[in-house]
Amino acid sequence: MLAVHLVSFLFSKVQEEPNKEVDRFLQAMRLGDEQLKDISSLFLAEMKKGLSAESNAAAVVKMLPTHVRSTPDGSEKGQFLALDLGGSRFKVLCVKVREGKGVRRGRVEMHEKIFPIPQELLEGKGAELFDHVSESLKDFVHENNINMEKKHPLAFTFSFPCEQSSLGQGLLLDWSKNFHVRGVRGKDVVQALREAIDRTGGIDVDVLALVNDTVATMMTCGLDDQHCEVGLIVGTGTNACYMEELRHIDLVEGDEGRMCVNTEWGAFGEDGTLKDYITEFDREVDAASNNPGKQIFEKMVSGMYLGELVRLVLLKMAKLGLLFDGCVSSALRTRGKISTADVAAMEEYRNGLKNTRVILKALGLTPSPEDCVAVQHISTTVSLRSSNLVAAGLVAVLTRIKENRRLRTFRVTVGVDGSVYRTHPQYPKRLHGAVRRLLPECQVRFVVSERGSSRGAALVTAVAQRRVSLRQKVDEALSPLRLSIEQLQMVKAKMRAGLEAGLRQERRSEIKMLPSFVCQLPESSEHGEVLVLALEETFFKAFLVNFNKDPQEPQLQHKIYPIPAEITQGAGTEFFDHIAGCVSDYLDYMGIKKSHLPAGLLFPFPCDQTAVGEATLLSWTKGVRATDCEGHHVVRMLQEAIERRNEFELDVAAVVNDTVGTMVGCAHGDPRCELGLIVGTGTNLCYMEELKNIKWEKDDPTDREIQRMCINTEWGGLGDDGSLDEITTSYDVAVDRNSHNPGKQRFEKMTSGMYLGEVVRQTLLDLTRRGLLFRGHVTEALKTPGIFQTKYLSQTESDRLALLQVRSILQGLGLDCTCDDAIIVKEVCGAVSRRAAQLCGAGMAAVVDKMRENSGLDRLSITAGVDGTVHKLHPHFPRVLKETLTVLAPQCNVTFLTVDDSSVRGAALVTAGAAEKKV
Ligand code: BG6
Ligand code: GLC
Ligand code: GLC
Repeated sequence: MLAVHLVSFLFSKVQEEPNKEVDRFLQAMRLGDEQLKDISSLFLAEMKKGLSAESNAAAVVKMLPTHVRSTPDGSEKGQFLALDLGGSRFKVLCVKVREGKGVRRGRVEMHEKIFPIPQELLEGKGAELFDHVSESLKDFVHENNINMEKKHPLAFTFSFPCEQSSLGQGLLLDWSKNFHVRGVRGKDVVQALREAIDRTGGIDVDVLALVNDTVATMMTCGLDDQHCEVGLIVGTGTNACYMEELRHIDLVEGDEGRMCVNTEWGAFGEDGTLKDYITEFDREVDAASNNPGKQIFEKMVSGMYLGELVRLVLLKMAKLGLLFDGCVSSALRTRGKISTADVAAMEEYRNGLKNTRVILKALGLTPSPEDCVAVQHISTTVSLRSSNLVAAGLVAVLTRIKENRRLRTFRVTVGVDGSVYRTHPQYPKRLHGAVRRLLPECQVRFVVSERGSSRGAALVTAVAQRRVSLRQKVDEALSPLRLSIEQLQMVKAKMRAGLEAGLRQERRSEIKMLPSFVCQLPESSEHGEVLVLALEETFFKAFLVNFNKDPQEPQLQHKIYPIPAEITQGAGTEFFDHIAGCVSDYLDYMGIKKSHLPAGLLFPFPCDQTAVGEATLLSWTKGVRATDCEGHHVVRMLQEAIERRNEFELDVAAVVNDTVGTMVGCAHGDPRCELGLIVGTGTNLCYMEELKNIKWEKDDPTDREIQRMCINTEWGGLGDDGSLDEITTSYDVAVDRNSHNPGKQRFEKMTSGMYLGEVVRQTLLDLTRRGLLFRGHVTEALKTPGIFQTKYLSQTESDRLALLQVRSILQGLGLDCTCDDAIIVKEVCGAVSRRAAQLCGAGMAAVVDKMRENSGLDRLSITAGVDGTVHKLHPHFPRVLKETLTVLAPQCNVTFLTVDDSSVRGAALVTAGAAEKKV
């Protein structure tokens, strides 16, 4: 305000009648706080427009995602070459970053060399500019004896707007400032640099990160001050970046954490938003620039234009006779004759007036003392407007951070660089003052980046390098879990061989191929009521199934009884006593204890059957270990338990495997259903096989007319003879070793719900031990078997779940993880479950191809009934299963069918059929 009064006062002194015209122009450059607040809110609106996917294309403030996700934490290290292009000086540097934790922040050593860029290159061809850059780099490397035997990582500070889809790439949107190079716009500048480096030859570098100068500045200052989350440049050009919440950046996927956004605020006003604040001089500067109509805000603010603005005001005033007695020198008429350094010199505290005189004289003018005072104040008006406008922009950025954090007061550090800020004597003070005045609730600290921004670019590159090597190591560790088509073909072939061996009843066949004595798919004529007693891993469920009302849609009434672990792990008699107790309760509950309904036992374990109702348990699988049951007759064990109770009778007419139940249950609605698949706690498959292919140990007890029978493959045993060793990982070996039945059910242990969580846990343990996860910290939680249940696997991979939620799931398990950890955990879950789905697909391909060959058809179309928690709950399992099947069995068209309680319905149908035959 002082300046305003002084200038008006001066006009009245210099001329009797002050020229209102000119005063009006200068008046337009004086912005009061209300106007600054208005500009600030206009800019805030522009920022929002740039962030949103819908309006980004039309937004002039581009809000470019930078892919820099965190400020330095001191763990960055390494030696980097760096290029710094786009400021007032082009520099090549070598930066050494040493690791440092806590208060001992990382230390940085650097040396640099400035290389001039000939004017013609600034307006020439892109290839020539990049050749110059890469030749300068080569000179620097040689002069400094940098060992070129190994590849050097390179950080590229490039102070122009680039659209980045990763750190190591960026399409130049437009040149700005004094660069006007042909053939680069819209191209990847990293690629252009790489090509130039190849042309130059003799240097081996890896361009790992492309970083805007604002970002590099923020990172540089961030090393000393963790609150630094804004980078500001007021130099040749002007711009700011800040840490934005990822969920607000529509152009980048993911919503956890933050990312630095390069606002490219120099473009503010290109669409006329600043029309109320633009002066005639601004218009003139713009019209004479390299890029008319562009970078309007930058042209009101930055070093490239400040001197020009002053010159144009002086010229106008001289022409109007308000200065220099109306004399105009040719230098004053020449573009660029007043520089920003001149502006700074004129405003120097003690020598300002003297400097002004010298500068004006050098322009061929003869200023009076009053002229010098007037010119000094014009210069002040122009530079004060600049710092005020920057303050308005910065206040918008800080307000945005404040809104994101939902805070009323907060503390933030702004890293600053640029020749105007560094060299203009009053600029920092004015800028700080204005920001504090406009946003008193923010405690803002300004930190100048003392030795340029390249330190920060090197830090970004260090993080990029660490990520690249982490990525490689994680990929390496997970590669054994990623199966190739050839490996899946091999699994299909092994499964096929196993099926054949099992059918031939070869003694030690790993796949048992158990006849189920279910030979016909059900007809819809069942009637009456049956009981289905369904055993599961930790539950027993009793169902009353009533076909009377609607044979197509029988009614199911059920009750669930938990089976405590001590029972499944205890004595066999107690196990069956427990079941008998549950049955008794259920019959009471339903009031049918005396009704002698036929019952079917849905028994999801491998049994040797000689008839539908005759089954000998071969071995327990999954988690059940009740003693003295294997090798015994299942129905008899249950009957004996019922007899021990001596209170009711039960006629168990059928023992049905869950796969068989599922197939039959689904076939009830779709007669093409000839296959049943379970991927739940365990995994197994049954299908309809030609009787002629089944070798019987005993006399053929079946009806001669019958040609096919459902075979319960018990395919979970594939690999028990070592046939899957080629694809077995150390994680699988560990899971098997810790299981109830080591060496058994190897295929099941790679594919089913009881084990997938453990495979994931073993993988996480290994990655942690290798230092790739959880900062290498093996916690008790991670060492706890079973902590990572398969349901978490499904949840973690759900597309709807944000990483934040994944993190909270893991934290709930006591696994304290960072955002990067959560990404890796999600990836591990993905690899493990994908492999499971692919293995099931490969196994199934073997089965359906065999069925197709049995049928003698070139193409087979069938339906598969499917059930099981993994298949039902996992978000990607069914899709991957189908995809694999389509690739490995291209001649078979399989429709997957899921029916609620299909296994119970199927078991009920088999039971009803068996009971009818008995009668
Ligand atoms: C420097 C950076 O520190 O600041 C440059 O390293 C950047 O890349 C510059 O452009 C901004 O200032 P000026 O005044 O050189 O444009
Ligand atoms: C220009 C560039 C921008 C850069 C700024 C400061 O505005 O477009 O990318 O950050 O100058 O150098
Ligand atoms: C186990 C059992 C098998 C059952 C499968 C699915 O593999 O051995 O009989 O079908 O789990 O429950």
